[in-house]
Amino acid sequence: MTAPVRTRSSADLIRAEEPVLAHNYHPLPVVVARGEGSWVEDVEGRRYLDMLAGYSALNFGHRHPALIAAAHEQLDLLTLTSRAFHNDRLAEFAERLAELTGLDMVLPMNTGAEAVESGIKVARKWAYEVKGVPADQATIVVAAENFHGRTTTIVSFSTDETARQGFGPFTPGFRIVPYNDLAALEAAVDETTAAVLIEPIQGEAGVVIPDEGYLTGVRELTRREGCLFIADEIQSGLGRTGRTLAVEHEGVVPDVLLLGKALGGGIVPVSAVVARRDVLGVLRPGEHGSTFGGNPLAAAVGTAVVELLETGEFQRRATELGAVLRDGLTELVGKGVVGFRARGLWAGVDVDPAVGTGREVGERLLREGILVKDTHGSTIRLAPPLTITETELASALGALERVVGRG
Ligand SMILES: Cc1ncc(COP(=O)(O)O)c(C=O)c1O
Repeated sequence: MTAPVRTRSSADLIRAEEPVLAHNYHPLPVVVARGEGSWVEDVEGRRYLDMLAGYSALNFGHRHPALIAAAHEQLDLLTLTSRAFHNDRLAEFAERLAELTGLDMVLPMNTGAEAVESGIKVARKWAYEVKGVPADQATIVVAAENFHGRTTTIVSFSTDETARQGFGPFTPGFRIVPYNDLAALEAAVDETTAAVLIEPIQGEAGVVIPDEGYLTGVRELTRREGCLFIADEIQSGLGRTGRTLAVEHEGVVPDVLLLGKALGGGIVPVSAVVARRDVLGVLRPGEHGSTFGGNPLAAAVGTAVVELLETGEFQRRATELGAVLRDGLTELVGKGVVGFRARGLWAGVDVDPAVGTGREVGERLLREGILVKDTHGSTIRLAPPLTITETELASALGALERVVGRG
């Protein structure tokens, strides 16, 4: 990886953003210009180990050779048709994704939020057409502290006031219950319930893992009550937790699965609603769509992603290196870390507030050449590429030890 030729410095580029770029993010002060594997390089040629991996969009690392090759090959052939016509890449993508997930049908979209929106629409339509809920009465039960995206409907059922403030009026039809609380869920479900929509592990909330049995309980409850179980695996899915899907840790198969992020291989936005035929089958021509959804470039990259996951190598790496991550974090508890939650190569680390905020820890790690993202308060999230080596992981843990130990 050689430094790109740039005429503007990092500081200059950061300053230049200020007047022309909406301030909806507060990035760490690093201007990335290149990436390869677990590493990125800034404008000045400084190298950083990427321990965030685009919030799991880069599960296979930066520019994985097989994914780049698939994209290049497709770029030379055909990139976009719209769904007005068939394209020669879509059937294979849908077939292989359905097979990988054990479900029947695929609705291709682009971003995660679009997959969530599409899942909500499909569940409502299913409720009216199949379950027989009276028109416009369908409800969807969701969990507090959820993160499902940023659209108007999705923030309607967020419990994060920063995400909602100033964006009303909100979409009705959602009931919010505490996460990891089956009794509360049971109390909220009734004959109007189209679906229960949850993250099997709450990512943005700080990698919150429900008690063993919760997902099984959600599965049994939704089956018993005749409503759909929608699992948002946009962040937890596709190898991150050591399984293809996080629901597999409890051997649970949802009715509807929402996928995104890593499905696009870190190259293009690719998301999907994957579901049983009797659920996705409610959609008919003209009722839902997307100009870019299922485009040939997305389908080619998505197929290459599925192909990587079919080998099981990344799930295995997440399990094995996840144990290394867990051991390393266990060592830090009481030494600047107050606790952590981890599954596979994914951890939410609660740093002692006396050490600093999550943001401050992120800034100190940046100076150590490690990229992470804080979530709430003093929590940082670790989600390295699943291609990371044990040596690289050890160096990130070493940097974390130095940073939190320093106080
Ligand atoms: C669980 C979950 N669902 C949905 C989304 C939204 O995805 P996108 O940012 O691609 O719209 C995210 C993004 O972080 C997520 O973590």
